[in-house]
This record gives sequence, C-alpha cells and structure tokens, in this order.
Amino acid sequence: MPKKIRIPPNLFSDIVGYDDVKSLLLKTIRSYGDGLPVHFLLVGEPATAKSLFLLSLERIKGAEYRLGSRLSRSGLVELLIGKKPHLVLIDEIDKVSDRECLAVLLSLMETGRIVETLHGKMRTEKLEVIVVAAANDISELPRELLSRFIILRFKPYKWGEFLKIARNILVKREGVKPRIAKYIASVVWNKLGSKDFRDCIKLARLIRDGQNKREIDLVVRTLAKYS
Ligand SMILES: Nc1ncnc2c1ncn2[C@@H]1O[C@H](COP(=O)(O)OP(=O)(O)OP(=O)(O)O)[C@@H](O)[C@H]1O
Ligand SMILES: [Mg+2]
Repeated sequence: MPKKIRIPPNLFSDIVGYDDVKSLLLKTIRSYGDGLPVHFLLVGEPATAKSLFLLSLERIKGAEYRLGSRLSRSGLVELLIGKKPHLVLIDEIDKVSDRECLAVLLSLMETGRIVETLHGKMRTEKLEVIVVAAANDISELPRELLSRFIILRFKPYKWGEFLKIARNILVKREGVKPRIAKYIASVVWNKLGSKDFRDCIKLARLIRDGQNKREIDLVVRTLAKYS
C-alpha cells in the first residue's frame, strides 16, 4: 500500500478565492505516494496569499514550513533525514543565501535523493517529497531550479476581490464593523493607492478606539501627507 497524506478538513478555509489553485494543490497532495511528485512555486506581489497557502498546508501532518532566509544546506539535510517530511514548504525561497541548499533541493525534487556525510561516510537517502515554495521575485533563482517547479503567478487583486477579502479579514480577524471595513478598504485602495491588506489592518488598528469614518479620514490624511 503506498503511503497517503491525510488532508485535514477545511484546509484552505482561511483563503478567499483561488479555488482553482486549491484544487490543483489538493489533487497533487492526494496523489502523494505514487512516486511521481509535482512541485509548486507561488510567485507574486506582496499580500497575494502566498504565505497563507504555505501556512495552511503546514497543518498537514508530515509537512514542514521553513523560511528561505533561515535555511542552510545542513539545516535542510537534517530536516529531510531527521523528519522525512512528505511536504516541504519553503517561504521566501528567493531569500535563500546558501547556494548549496539549492543544490540539495535540485536533487530532492528531481530524484528524491539526498546525500548526507556522517563521520566522513557518505549515505544516500531516497524520499518522496512535494515541495511548495513562494517568492516575490524569481529573477535571481537558478533556471534549473525554476524548471523543476510548476510556477503559479498570483496576479494583483482587482477591486471587487480586494474589497471582499479586506472585509473578510477586517470583520473576522480585527473585529471591525462591516460598514467601517468597507470604508477602510475603499480609502486604502483609492486614497492610499495600495492593494495591500496589511495597510487595511494597520488602519483598522489605528482607529480601534473610535471606529468611525471621520477618524479614518483624519488618519488617512496624515498617512497620505507623509507617504
Ligand atoms: N485570498 C486571500 N484570502 C484571505 N486573506 C488574504 C488573501 N490574500 C491575502 N490575504 C491576507 O493578506 C495578508 C498577507 O497575505 P500573505 O502573507 O499570504 O501574503 P504574501 O503573498 O505571502 O505576501 P509577501 O510577498 O509580502 O510575503 C494576510 O493577512 C492574509 O491573510
Ligand atoms: Mg509571504
């Protein structure tokens, strides 16, 4: 019997939209165990849900999440040999500074092989691992690494999507009233010229003591003046 990955219910319920990406990832994960893994690289502007996808996938048993900036060759080999993960999630893979780490990934993604040297002896392990990574900018990543991924480019949100997601985040996570959430989304988009939900969250936190439009206008005027 090939190993299978158990997928928790509502794995992607925090993510609004991207239904096609969700099904593609789920399909790949369901096929785990057949020895034919597929790897994904999510690329896009800030705040397009790349990390949110990786953090949702981290809920799967056998998944390991790491930040690229903290990943070294030895750390990656240790993780692979020690934990034998089914899924390796590398956020901000463009920030990996140890090029040797990328060499380990090349071999892992192509053949599943990892070479470890212990007490001067070489040992090879073979694993089945699905790699899902995320990056803002892939221009500096080696072509041979990019060629091993299916690259999914997350485009900036359109106004309707931005409003829906911003309202969702502000109401559910930040405790903002729906009417005010809509107003915050519209001033962030129109007056601050931003498509980043983090700006909606910052604004919501700045007015947490007085949730009204006047207070929002006041804060936005100051932010715009010093932007
Ligand atoms: N489709 C979405 N559904 C729900 N929340 C979203 C969505 N897109 C973005 N967000 C929210 O926006 C914020 C930023 O998202 P996230 O951290 O996933 O962005 P990112 O693409 O990794 O950005 P960066 O490139 O800056 O790392 C988070 O609070 C996240 O919950
Ligand atoms: Mg991120």
